Amino acid sequence: MSDIIQKNLDYKKYVIDSRLKYFKPHATQIEKTFADEISSSMNRDSKFISPKFFYDKKGSDLFEKICTAPEYYPTRTEISILEKLQHELPSFLDGDFRLVELGSGSSVKTRLLLDALSPQNNMEYFPIDISEILAESSEQLLRDYENLSITGIIDTYEGGLEFLKTYDEQKNLIIFLGSSYGNFSPLDGYKFLEKVHSTMKPGDLFLIGLDLIKEKKILESAYNDSQKITAKFNLNVLSRINDELDADFNLNNFSHHAIYNEKDQRIEMYLKSLREQSVVISKSNLQLVLNKDELIHTEHSHKYRLSEIHDLLDDVGFELKHTWLDEKKHFSLSLVSKI
Ligand code: AVI
Repeated sequence: MSDIIQKNLDYKKYVIDSRLKYFKPHATQIEKTFADEISSSMNRDSKFISPKFFYDKKGSDLFEKICTAPEYYPTRTEISILEKLQHELPSFLDGDFRLVELGSGSSVKTRLLLDALSPQNNMEYFPIDISEILAESSEQLLRDYENLSITGIIDTYEGGLEFLKTYDEQKNLIIFLGSSYGNFSPLDGYKFLEKVHSTMKPGDLFLIGLDLIKEKKILESAYNDSQKITAKFNLNVLSRINDELDADFNLNNFSHHAIYNEKDQRIEMYLKSLREQSVVISKSNLQLVLNKDELIHTEHSHKYRLSEIHDLLDDVGFELKHTWLDEKKHFSLSLVSKI
């Protein structure tokens, strides 16, 4: 038994070849969590489905499509900032860093960062993602980067960070892009940042991409794209519950609803029940009655002022190294270390 397996008893190790391996927690644990979470979040007056459940294979593919929709500015804006940051990042790095990505992300962004991390040396990439989509992007990266090795951790961010904590002494550049942080509640977000902070060793770096407050019209169009990809993405979570938890949601009886709440600085996304209806979710032991126009909350996507981002990072105990912005100040990338 290797060291790694002894330290991570709850994970199964899959060695694909000398440059590619995966760690995955035992499947029964994942399934139980999904059924249990849906059971408690749907068995109450204000119903809720956690956005982390969007990302099965189909949901991840739909999200990739959203990222290319003309109205969805975050991805292309963040990429434009990364293209600039790429040239400036090396001055913040002393020595070799492993790239650890929370969410396996779009490979365009990953590549921009890999290119900034001494590509002539051996490089390591650790994607952490609950969805097995990381396998697809990993294989493509290996084809294009000869001196890259990949360790994929198929788990929640918290689980993956815990895994990383005891892994080894190599310096990590942990990245969390796309403003995925904005999908946490403020409390869960804060706990997540504390987890990142406690995972980091002195010398490690953390790069976080966060979406900034802007005109309501721009924000609402980004979550109501004209091709209706976001609507499909939202509704897909019901298909997933049907397939995996043996439920009978009729997708035609629901519509996508997304609005910007200025006071709480967030896009709020819901599935609206178009009629009174009853639904059974067998594996969660639920029989629901939904009223006409009842909303199931599926996502919050928080938007920030730059000063709020800096205060938040400071409160958690990070030291700000630099913030990069695009010209319109629509999106931000902040690099921090651990004090
Ligand atoms: C992943 N996350 C940052 C996206 C967002 O913008 O909040 C998810 C998304 N939901 C609808 N469109 C995109």
